[in-house]
Amino acid sequence: MLFNILSSTLLLAATTSALPAEIESRATNTYLTNSHTAITELQTFYNSPRPGFWSAGWWNTANCLTLLADLRAKDSSSFLTSITDGANGVFKHTLSSQGKDSTGALNWDDFFDDQLWWVVALIKTYDVTKDTSFLTTANVTFASVSLNNKPSNNPCGGLANAYPSEKYLVKSSTIATVLYVEAAALLATRCPAQSTYFINLAKTQWSWLTKNILIDGIMQGDALTGSPPSCGNNHAFLTYIEGVALQALVALYHATNDASYLTTADTLATKLLSGKYGMMDANKIAQEFCDGDLSCNPDTAQFKGIMMRGLRTLRDAKPSAAGGQIKAFLTKNADSIWANSRQSGSNLLGEKWAGPFALGNSQALQLSSHSSATMALVQAALASM
Ligand SMILES: *[C@@H]1O[C@H](CO)[C@@H](O)[C@H](O)[C@H]1NC(C)=O
Repeated sequence: MLFNILSSTLLLAATTSALPAEIESRATNTYLTNSHTAITELQTFYNSPRPGFWSAGWWNTANCLTLLADLRAKDSSSFLTSITDGANGVFKHTLSSQGKDSTGALNWDDFFDDQLWWVVALIKTYDVTKDTSFLTTANVTFASVSLNNKPSNNPCGGLANAYPSEKYLVKSSTIATVLYVEAAALLATRCPAQSTYFINLAKTQWSWLTKNILIDGIMQGDALTGSPPSCGNNHAFLTYIEGVALQALVALYHATNDASYLTTADTLATKLLSGKYGMMDANKIAQEFCDGDLSCNPDTAQFKGIMMRGLRTLRDAKPSAAGGQIKAFLTKNADSIWANSRQSGSNLLGEKWAGPFALGNSQALQLSSHSSATMALVQAALASM
């Protein structure tokens, strides 16, 4: 609402006098217009092949829900509310479509990281709806991960990504552990009666990450392998791990009021935007290791938008972070996605944000590439509001 009023007033002003670029971009917020266009396209994947799913991926679906909740926090347009709100809106319908175990935890697959993506998505949805069914489900799903992710199965520490019987089990998984920190810290501020419990869980796992993964100020390695005393780190750089680490640090800051978490996040973002770690090209357009030869799968094609989300979340908490360059980075990437990585006619967004437009054939890969790029557009829109 507020945005619409502001927008038309400033638009009028922009036509009558030359305004600084900052005001002009707020007046039009093309990032918001483009986000809406991309969300219209995103919704062509909804309820297919299953009710309450965007395409086939369960964790990808959680990220689609998250990007809509992120935008809904600041956007009350009839465009968005007609998609998200109400008894038949995406928020309620997505949750009611998910299978639950006897405790009420979401358990569509046996991956702990997937469950934790859902915890985050449900908390963000709770924030904008104030409907406690989202928070309750987040809380019991988190409890299920805490109960079943047994340290004894995981000799190098941190969290495993799945139950021990899972074929793709990764012990001491960085993404599962850092998501757990984010989820616990977010729950701490929303469940005041249990805040100490959640903060302690978050701090314990953040200490493990600090000791083993946060190396030279930036997250390195997607897991520890081997067994003590020889736990090894492959020092891989993945955009989504950086993004979730930023989310986790900002959430820890909000839960504890300890500004040192923001300092750590600021350093991480500064390193990231230096462009030195292969997560962006020479022109500072975000890229994943698999973008070059278009070999991303429906998991890895999802990653880059999550990095953008982490950067935007840090900027909200500390606008001066990374030398005040985060907004310019977000808008530059959104500009490149729109100009260079969009299929004309359909408005589908591709995998390579620098262009040219390229998208895999499978519906799952199309959804993850498109939703990742849409998440990036939404972060640019939010940073411009
Ligand atoms: C979260 O779950 C715990 C049990 O694991 C319960 O004691 C607590 O009341 C729940 N909090 C909310 C807000 O649902």
